[in-house]
Amino acid sequence: MTLSPSSGSAFPKDFVWGVATSAFQIEGASDADGKGPSIWDDFCRTPGTIADASDGREACDHYHRWASDLDLVAGLGVDAYRFSVSWPRVQALGSGAFNEAGFSFYEELVDGMLARGLKPYLTLNHWDLPSALQAQGGWENRQTVQRFVEYACEVARRLGDRVASICTHNEPWVIAVLGHESGIFAPGIKSRAAAIQVAHHLFLSHGMAVTAMRSQGCKAAMGIVLNLSPINAATESEADQAAARRADGGGLRWYVDPLLKGEYPADVLQDLGADAPKVLPGDMAQIKVPLDFLGVNYYMRSVVSSGEPWDVKTSGHEITDMGWEVYPQGLTELLVRLHRDYPLPPIFITENGAAFKDEVVDAQVHDGQRQRYIANHIAATLDAMRQGVRVDGYFVWSLLDNFEWASGYAKRFGIVRVDYDTQQRTLKDSALWYRHFLQKPKTSRHGMNATGLEL
Ligand code: FCB
Repeated sequence: MTLSPSSGSAFPKDFVWGVATSAFQIEGASDADGKGPSIWDDFCRTPGTIADASDGREACDHYHRWASDLDLVAGLGVDAYRFSVSWPRVQALGSGAFNEAGFSFYEELVDGMLARGLKPYLTLNHWDLPSALQAQGGWENRQTVQRFVEYACEVARRLGDRVASICTHNEPWVIAVLGHESGIFAPGIKSRAAAIQVAHHLFLSHGMAVTAMRSQGCKAAMGIVLNLSPINAATESEADQAAARRADGGGLRWYVDPLLKGEYPADVLQDLGADAPKVLPGDMAQIKVPLDFLGVNYYMRSVVSSGEPWDVKTSGHEITDMGWEVYPQGLTELLVRLHRDYPLPPIFITENGAAFKDEVVDAQVHDGQRQRYIANHIAATLDAMRQGVRVDGYFVWSLLDNFEWASGYAKRFGIVRVDYDTQQRTLKDSALWYRHFLQKPKTSRHGMNATGLEL
């Protein structure tokens, strides 16, 4: 898609607008109809792991409310819905028999999207690995790569003709680093060497799964989703610049280089020393499979200092309920930099959004901060496109308030509020704004400028 001259000031006609969720965060029904446990079910049972000691057993009860939830999605006027398949729901043990009841759920869900005119954007792995595979080493074990390829092929066989897009993994950095190095996410392991090997197995399983699904004849667009931030040094000092280079190497280049260039960055490999991954001959070629798209999840920039950690409060910018700096221009910077440094496939912003404390007043939620956050990031996306970056779509995180991993239910990212006592859904002002925005002709959609005025 090249931008036509007249679209230089707004989004092209075929730009895809959407909202996103993931299975564990919304479905609930964690042991219904033959579903096996995942590492997140287990992690929630470990005391001290989840801020409010909650779990995913009920979540948004989307497993039972999917039809009315899809009505909500369609009512917003979006083109697409990004969701994930829970691997242990469709294959309880992560190997062997597939679960028909689990597949029926996703078949109905996908057909429900199509019936409502929504394009299904499917993610295969949004972190809920079957526990039975973790018992054999999980993503540290190279055999999990093969299990993932089998699972991916079965999903593609059953749903591949009906979904617009298949993403292999959501945010390998989170699985590797938060799951296996800091251990604040499932499976709660604390070893840098493990994290590095896990990342390698995720990349490898991505490449092998894409190749295998394509060779089965699956025509859906295939790619992967990375969480990326531009890295700024806190000061001009040499030490801070060096710290920023290391952070960029470990957080961005380690993830983008293998996928798009088929190699690991030499400086990071050197820094890793004995923690470098075990790579077998042929792995890097498999990893560098041509992509139909690269998904980018953007929430904030990262500011790095060689001394005391940079204090976000000194930024002078708004800070979300997660403690994350609001920095829309970072999204422009990031996209322009990726475009400069890499042979990029089309990009989708597969997640962008913010948690704020919402208040319900007379059955309304006036979440102006979230509304501005989304609008300003849409405008930042458009800025990057004006500078020549090809972006094909944008998805708000999230449709619903949901289980925000180690933060539990206290952090609300939804543009639709969920009352967890009654499971009632209420469109927040941000959802009403998004709907209004999407009612405009596509080629006159801009977002907002920094003052919150509609452009
Ligand atoms: C991303 C995750 C998503 C959600 C947002 C806030 O890292 O992909 O599930 O938790 O953060």
